[in-house]
Amino acid sequence: MELMKAIAMRKSTRSYKPEQISDESLDIILKAGCAAPVGMGAYNSMHMTVIQNSDLLEKFTNEARKTFKNPNMNPFYGAPTLVVVSGKQNEKAPAVEVANAACIVENMALAATDFGLGSVYLLGFLFAISANTELLKKLNLPDGFVPAAALAIGYPTEPLTKVKELKQTIEVNVIK
Ligand SMILES: Cc1cc2nc3c(=O)[nH]c(=O)nc-3n(C[C@H](O)[C@H](O)[C@H](O)COP(=O)(O)O)c2cc1C
Repeated sequence: MELMKAIAMRKSTRSYKPEQISDESLDIILKAGCAAPVGMGAYNSMHMTVIQNSDLLEKFTNEARKTFKNPNMNPFYGAPTLVVVSGKQNEKAPAVEVANAACIVENMALAATDFGLGSVYLLGFLFAISANTELLKKLNLPDGFVPAAALAIGYPTEPLTKVKELKQTIEVNVIK
């Protein structure tokens, strides 16, 4: 798929089939994430955790339901794979780990689109699990790393077919 087509086809998928994605697709998606730009080239300041364990996804779901007081909340929309991107905070570059994670997540979302897979950038549930040290431990993160963004991936219930028109949705001012 051409890059511009993948950009126009990517959308937040909020309904997934239970079928798992292949290890081959996952491997390429993770490598696409690793090809993203990272501040100061500090790739060792970032970390990715792939979660395909339904018990852990359920624990995270329950925590999000409690935090957001919404017993029907389905933060992963049934996606069978979740990639949590974590980073080391750097006081000389505030929020650099969040910026890095955003680049990594978007690269992975575009790669997933290229495979016809659905994906959705997730932040809400991370607020819930980040406040629960016991759950945070389940990510097995190296010391000093904090979750910064996540991407749910899976087969969409409805195949991705729509190529959206690229529009100026963000206001721009041009200085010449
Ligand atoms: C930083 C960030 C956080 C987001 N968090 C969530 C989230 O927690 N849950 C969710 O369903 N979508 C989340 N989204 C997806 C946005 O709602 C979505 O990208 C936006 O509405 C545009 O729609 P599109 O992705 O279909 O183009 C997030 C997106 C970004 C960039």
